[in-house]
Amino acid sequence: MTSTQLPYGAGHFGFDTDQVHAGETIGAGHGARITPIYLTAGFVFDSFDHAKARFDGDDGAWVYSRNGNPTNTVVEARLTALEHGVDSLLVGSGQAAITVAMLGILRAGDHFLATRSLYEGTKTLFRENFVRFGIEVEFVDDPHDLAEWRRRLRPTTRAVFAEAIPNPKNDLIDFRLIADFADEAGVPFVVDSTAATPYLVRPIDHGASIVVHSASKFLSGHGASLAGVVVDGGTFDWGRHPQKFPQFSAALAGDPDSSYLSRFGDRAYLEYTRSVITARLGPVLSPFNSFLLLQGLETLSLRVERHSRNALAIARWLEAQPEVSSVDYPGLESNPYHWLAERYFPRGSGSVFGFTLRGGTDAARTVIDSVELFSRMTHMGDVRSMVLHPATTSHAQVPKADRERYGIGDGLVRLSVGIEDEADLIADLERAFLALRQAQPSVGAFAGARPV
Ligand SMILES: Cc1ncc(COP(=O)(O)O)c(C=O)c1O
Repeated sequence: MTSTQLPYGAGHFGFDTDQVHAGETIGAGHGARITPIYLTAGFVFDSFDHAKARFDGDDGAWVYSRNGNPTNTVVEARLTALEHGVDSLLVGSGQAAITVAMLGILRAGDHFLATRSLYEGTKTLFRENFVRFGIEVEFVDDPHDLAEWRRRLRPTTRAVFAEAIPNPKNDLIDFRLIADFADEAGVPFVVDSTAATPYLVRPIDHGASIVVHSASKFLSGHGASLAGVVVDGGTFDWGRHPQKFPQFSAALAGDPDSSYLSRFGDRAYLEYTRSVITARLGPVLSPFNSFLLLQGLETLSLRVERHSRNALAIARWLEAQPEVSSVDYPGLESNPYHWLAERYFPRGSGSVFGFTLRGGTDAARTVIDSVELFSRMTHMGDVRSMVLHPATTSHAQVPKADRERYGIGDGLVRLSVGIEDEADLIADLERAFLALRQAQPSVGAFAGARPV
C-alpha cells in the first residue's frame, strides 16, 4: 500500500484536531482524502518471504482482517490519540470490548473487584458468564471507601473495574482514589468510559491502566452501528508481577526474547489481547462499521459539548418541577457528586441521567407516553434524545428490593439528551408534565413543592 502518513499523532495537536486527523493515511494509491473501507478478509503476499515476514509481524502490515485491518488501524490510532493511550483495539460491540479487555488480564481462579454501579449488561456478564469461566467478581458498595476496597482484596485479585460516569445513577467515582488503590494492590485499573468520552475525561490521565468504550454510543453518535474499543494506557507494569500475569512474560517456544513484554514493551497487553484473545474468540469489528465510527469521531467534541449543555439545562428544568423528587445529574450544584464533576469533568457532565417522579410507575408511564421528540429506546449517546423506564426494562430482572436500595425506583426515568434545540426538548417535557398534572393533579401539591 502506498499511503502517506500525515504528521499527526498523539499529543501533537489539540483534541479537536486529533479527532479529525490523528492516525489518518492519505492515498492508498488513488489520492482518496477519506479513509477507505477495506472490505477484504485477507491481504495478498508478494512472495514466499513476504508471507513469512507478515506472519512474523516484521513489516507491521496486515495479514487477515480478524487480526487487523487498515480501516480499523486508522480508527484505532485516532482513539489512541484521543484517550492518551499507546494502542487500541476495535471490536464488534461494547460488550465485546469489556469481555476481551478482562480476558486479556484474567484466567480461571482469578478474582476482580468492580464498583456496584455499572451498566446492567456488564454486571450480568461478570456475575453470570465470567463465573462460568472460573473468574470471580466482587462488587464494592462504596467506591469512596478505601477501607472497603482493601477489605475485599484477595491474594487472587487481578483487576479493578469501574465506570467513568456510572450507570444508571451517575454516582461519580474518584479516579485517583481507585487508581492509587489498584497501584497499591499491584493490579490494573480498567475504566468503562462510554458515558464520558475522552472529550469529558481521559481516565488514563487520572491513573487508569486500560479504557474501554461502547463506541456504539457517543463515539459514533449516529446510532447506526455497534462497536467497541479497548485502549491500553501502556502505564501498568506487567513485568513487575510476572506470577500474577504470566501471559506477558512467558517465553514462547523456549525463546526468552519471545515474550509479549520483550517484543512489544508497553504495548504488550494490547498485542496479547488482540492476537491471543480477540483474534481467537473472533468478535472483530467490520471495517464498514469502523468507517461509520470514524465519521462520528470527527465531530465528537462538538456533539458532546452540546449534549452536556442541553443536559444541564434540562436537569435544571426538571429540578424545579414539583413532581420530581430528585435529579441524578452531577453538573447540578445540588448533586452530591458535584465536587467530583468539578474535579474531573471541567468540560461538562455528559448527557445521560435519571430523574425520579414522585408518582412512581404511573407517572413514569404518563411522561414517557406523552413525549414526542424523545424516542422511547434503550440506547444512549446518540444525537437524538431518548427516554427509558429502567425498572420495567433494563433493570426489570433486578429484584425490587435491590433496585430500591440502589435508587432505581419505580419513578426513575432515564434520559439520554441529544443535540436538538434545547427549547424544543424542554417544550416536549413540558407537554409530558402537563399530561402528568392532568392525570395526577395532587402529586406535586401533596409534596408541597413549588408550583410552576
Ligand atoms: C456503560 C456501557 N458499557 C457497555 C455497554 C455495552 O455496549 P454495546 O451495546 O455496544 O455492546 C453499554 C450499553 O449500553 C453501556 O451503557
